[in-house]
Amino acid sequence: MQTTNIISLRTVDEGRGVPLVFVHGFPLSRGVWHPQIDAFRSSHRVIAPDLPGFGESDARPGPTTMAAFAADVRALLQQLATGPVVLVGHSMGGYVALAFARQCPEMLRGLVLVGTKAGPDAPDAATSRRATAEKVKTDGVQVVIESMAPKMLAAGNHDTRMMEQVRAFMASSTPAGVVGALLGMAERPDATALLGQIVVPTLVITGANDMLVPPAESTKLAEAIEGAQLNVIADAGHLVAFEQPYPFNRALEEWLDRAAL
Ligand code: MLT
Repeated sequence: MQTTNIISLRTVDEGRGVPLVFVHGFPLSRGVWHPQIDAFRSSHRVIAPDLPGFGESDARPGPTTMAAFAADVRALLQQLATGPVVLVGHSMGGYVALAFARQCPEMLRGLVLVGTKAGPDAPDAATSRRATAEKVKTDGVQVVIESMAPKMLAAGNHDTRMMEQVRAFMASSTPAGVVGALLGMAERPDATALLGQIVVPTLVITGANDMLVPPAESTKLAEAIEGAQLNVIADAGHLVAFEQPYPFNRALEEWLDRAAL
């Protein structure tokens, strides 16, 4: 797979056509998008960065706000001279996509929100994230791998090879990247008011069995964004695009066709 190194973000950039930009969740890497990169590189330009501190991209010190991640994505797209893109964000990548929509709506021609939500952390959730960040500082990224890996796939999914891959993606995260993102997520603003201002075609996708971001959050997103389409993928947990790539890719492809993207 071809990769380039731009503003220190390791990035897949393949194919030609309307750019599809895939932003991974926490604490993952661009690797989770392999099934989408393989499926769409013949019809679209597919771009999938490792966010700073994840996969093969270097971390930056301190908390990384969702706005800072969005600015990194924007700088990357400027350097790659993509023009407006279809932005696909999973979970934390969805928070980044919403921050991107706020920062530079002119860079968007479509939005795909996967297993994500617009609301901020409740106060107790933010406190618990900050406590986790402290633990990661002393005990490493294993702390989040152990707590999150069992919730990434549907409870009934016993595919041990798939689970090993998920753990490997997580293990490629750096402690500084994980701490920065935890602190950044804890302070992310409420994006609910922004939803009514989104005017580009939007697709919302959730795994029916998502244990980390309940599917009801996707229903709320789809109801709040004018003209948005909601797809609920059966037998899928939080990492829906990786766990059920065929129905996920079919939903994305049909929506892209309908939206002429
Ligand atoms: C993610 O998958 O990116 C995280 O579950 C998001 C979060 O913890 O809010």
